[in-house]
Amino acid sequence: MTSQPRTSTVQPLLQPVRLGALELPNRVVMAPMTRARAQNAELAPTDLHAAYYAQRAGAGLIVTEGTWVSADAIGFINVPGIYSEAQTAGWAKVTEAVHETSGRIVSQLGHVGAVSHPDHRGGRLPAGPSAVNPGETSFTPAGPKDTLTPRAFTAAEIADTIAAYRHAATPRSQRPAASSRV
Ligand SMILES: Cc1cc2nc3c(=O)[nH]c(=O)nc-3n(C[C@H](O)[C@H](O)[C@H](O)COP(=O)(O)O)c2cc1C
Repeated sequence: MTSQPRTSTVQPLLQPVRLGALELPNRVVMAPMTRARAQNAELAPTDLHAAYYAQRAGAGLIVTEGTWVSADAIGFINVPGIYSEAQTAGWAKVTEAVHETSGRIVSQLGHVGAVSHPDHRGGRLPAGPSAVNPGETSFTPAGPKDTLTPRAFTAAEIADTIAAYRHAATPRSQRPAASSRV
């Protein structure tokens, strides 16, 4: 009978792993966490975002806070987007800071759908998969507000939303200059 050591000096969490195209030096993945710190009219990440994520670059992988794919996607105060030039310039500073600290970071692309509020949308009703009030709270500039019964997406709006995700996922250097979707 072979004897097994009662404890191992190998910490599985700290072993490297391949995740798709990424080689992670350890298996700690930072969960996406909304911080609501983009307190500027552009909803662009700031130097504070760069410092915050660089401080956490020892994780095997960082998943950013949920990030708007378009102005229509917005449903929470001070959350940054990734559709305009100012926003992608801000994210470039974040990724540079993380890479300088030998980290890896991916973006969580988001759209709140029905869990928005007219206060985020110039008074326009949010649209969702169907005209059903999700019964949630939307954090608006005027404070928390109950969600309303949204409009149902039209087929054209679904196509637009898919295109917004595609645009948001396109690297800054590959985006057509006139397609900032602001
Ligand atoms: C302050 C805070 C902000 C969060 N923001 C997001 C977010 O932007 N996107 C997301 O998918 N999950 C978000 N979450 C959920 C966390 O990712 C989730 O809590 C984490 O994955 C751990 O899972 P658990 O809560 O089921 O244990 C947030 C959680 C907290 C506490």
